Amino acid sequence: MFIQKAWRTAAFGLYGFNHFTKSGFLEHAKKFREEDMQIRLDGKNCLVTGANSGIGFATAEGLASHGATVYMVCRNKERGEAALNQIRSKTGNANVHLEICDLSSINQVKSFATKFTSMDKPLHVLVNNAGLLEHKHEITAEGLELNFAVNVAATYTLTELVMPSLEKAAPDARVITVASGGMYTEPLNKDLQFTEGTFDGTQQYARNKRVQVALTEWWAEKSGDRGVGFYAMHPGWADTPGVAKSLPGLSERLSGNLRTNDEGADTVVWLALQPKEKLASGAFYFDRAEAPKHLKFAGTADSHAQINPIVDSIRSICGLSVNG
Ligand SMILES: NC(=O)c1ccc[n+]([C@@H]2O[C@H](COP(=O)([O-])OP(=O)(O)OC[C@H]3O[C@@H](n4cnc5c(N)ncnc54)[C@H](OP(=O)(O)O)[C@@H]3O)[C@@H](O)[C@H]2O)c1
Repeated sequence: MFIQKAWRTAAFGLYGFNHFTKSGFLEHAKKFREEDMQIRLDGKNCLVTGANSGIGFATAEGLASHGATVYMVCRNKERGEAALNQIRSKTGNANVHLEICDLSSINQVKSFATKFTSMDKPLHVLVNNAGLLEHKHEITAEGLELNFAVNVAATYTLTELVMPSLEKAAPDARVITVASGGMYTEPLNKDLQFTEGTFDGTQQYARNKRVQVALTEWWAEKSGDRGVGFYAMHPGWADTPGVAKSLPGLSERLSGNLRTNDEGADTVVWLALQPKEKLASGAFYFDRAEAPKHLKFAGTADSHAQINPIVDSIRSICGLSVNG
């Protein structure tokens, strides 16, 4: 067990250093096709969570520059308005809107989803980007462990509750979840809120990201041919405010070799633009290509079999009917 865990961490570090850095991006970009990014999104509605900063901001700007109508979901009005104005003026696209929602509150997520679906608009692209790595063991006002609340509970609840809007955009609708290569270090674990053992924020973040990848697979299987595609992705290691705050050591060690925010958002925008026939629903993407969900000899693959009871737990924690 200990040896396997050590192996996972070492393999992740080595793989990450070779691929997740800026030099990895530049190497992979040699295979990128310019025409992939020449697709327009005029008339399409995209919703991006955590759109005022880092990869979410770059994603919202990228989608707006392709003509999409973008709904930016942010928790702070001032930071959201500043980002909104910047995106409108940089892209010349006036169809960019701000929605305020603190995703650590499942009640706020539910109210926002009700408001959004009652607009009766098709939702072509949902980008579940907002996320955090909080090292302290914090409990939200609604009693949830904070990393889990934002990374998993909000992602799940929002996706499920805006499904009627996504289905209105079928067969073109897609959900893109910004996960992380950090998930390679953890199997799927039923202890969703880290109640067993000493709390470790980095481990909890990696577990949350593993849940996102397994959920993406589960959604793809469950939704069948309803015309909504589900994709998880890893942005690589990008120099965002989130990384500077939560992983200052990584930021320092890789100074000069971290990706820009645009490079981190590149695969999100690519996934939003590509014809669905080119994409595999349920898959994990990295640098415009399908990537493995498990590292070799990591012993994480079998854990995905636990996803059904885990979904039931998430639904129950979020006050959604189980088997609903
Ligand atoms: N950067 C990387 O190298 C990297 C690598 C792997 C995965 N990721 C993933 O990429 C995504 C974006 O991260 P980032 O690096 O761009 O970090 P970031 O700059 O900190 O951006 C995170 C965004 O999420 C928002 N957010 C956090 N908690 C929220 C809440 N309770 N309600 C609403 N919004 C909330 C933040 O809003 P505020 O500005 O108000 O805090 C911010 O807009 C995350 O899911 C992260 O796990 C990043």
